[in-house]
Amino acid sequence: MPNLPRIRVALIGVGNCASALVQGLQYYRNCKKNEECLGLRNLVLGGFYPGDIEIVATFDIDARKVGKDLTEAIFAPPNNAPKISEVQPVGVLVNKGPVLDGLGQRTRNIVEVSNQPEDNVAKTLKQTDTEIAINLLPSGAVKASEWYAEQALAAGCAFVNAAPNFIASDSSWAKQFEKAGLPLAGDDLIDQVGATTLHKTLLQLLSMNGVHVTETYQLDVGGGTESLDTLERTRDMKRTVKTKSVESALPYKAEVVAGSTDYVDFLQNKRDSYFWIKGMHFCNVPVQIDLKLSTVDAPNAGSVLLDVIRASKIALDRGLKGAIMPICAYAFKHPPKTVSLEKAEEMFADFIA
Ligand SMILES: NC(=O)c1ccc[n+]([C@@H]2O[C@H](COP(=O)([O-])OP(=O)(O)OC[C@H]3O[C@@H](n4cnc5c(N)ncnc54)[C@H](O)[C@@H]3O)[C@@H](O)[C@H]2O)c1
Repeated sequence: MPNLPRIRVALIGVGNCASALVQGLQYYRNCKKNEECLGLRNLVLGGFYPGDIEIVATFDIDARKVGKDLTEAIFAPPNNAPKISEVQPVGVLVNKGPVLDGLGQRTRNIVEVSNQPEDNVAKTLKQTDTEIAINLLPSGAVKASEWYAEQALAAGCAFVNAAPNFIASDSSWAKQFEKAGLPLAGDDLIDQVGATTLHKTLLQLLSMNGVHVTETYQLDVGGGTESLDTLERTRDMKRTVKTKSVESALPYKAEVVAGSTDYVDFLQNKRDSYFWIKGMHFCNVPVQIDLKLSTVDAPNAGSVLLDVIRASKIALDRGLKGAIMPICAYAFKHPPKTVSLEKAEEMFADFIA
């Protein structure tokens, strides 16, 4: 088809993550040189620049977003991700999706459900020639995430699950995508410089240098809607996912706890993460680390999402199907199989080469 953008993407959920991604796409749209692309891990990936990505369809349920141009909807409350770049209207309106379990008791008070008719999602994905659908629903929206995965299957799109529920890491879903001849990636996006990445890197550094880590925890507080949803509906699940991911950084067993702790509204989209690490080094002498990392949550997902989109396009072009391990291991906290940081990097580098 003439004049089609090179990578056609649909966003499921126009919350804070979507806001950072849309702003980032406009920020990096014309970047062609490395010195112009500070903040990106990869300017070119598989021959694709960020400017080759185009959002062609979007879905949400909030009355302040549905029917609006995507670039207006991303700044509508309750989104509180900061304005990080100038955005021009893109002519893509937000469609109304079904609510299903999209809202918990707490988020029900801050999301205003639109009374617009529900869109035929699979039909829209087909009509817009969407190649990759990205699930950015709240972590508690387990049924809704699965429903959108079914729509992607029906429309013939690749599916990326940024949420922490288990789709790519669930063998029955992976089989369905395999049968449909479509790529699948997930679950639970890993941030560019997030608490999990930093924690794993520190543990690896310590164990590499002969320190025996005995106890460690990572706790965080945030002020985005997702932190509120986590507090109510997915705290235990997030704790399991993060703890498993962090444990994999050590070549031996230690006491590890990693999870989201609380919602602090005035932090807005910021996230404060606290780390405590205790271990023994030379002659059993104790060593300890007490650290705080402060980040803005949504932009922390931007660079990784740009890589995942372009890698998923490579998978589509190569006719790969089912859960794509190099993408899952590189960019997600809960891939189908946990591998070391080095192995994940190596697998991804080989994949995009
Ligand atoms: N750095 C990060 O922000 C980061 C990192 C890893 C994973 N994630 C995951 O990405 C997901 C999105 O995070 P966020 O901060 O953007 O969340 P958010 O709460 O800001 O956005 C979720 C959006 O989904 C919409 N929604 C709810 N139910 C819906 C439905 N049934 N259909 C369509 N839209 C619906 C909400 O109205 C909202 O706009 C979460 O699952 C989060 O755990 C985010």
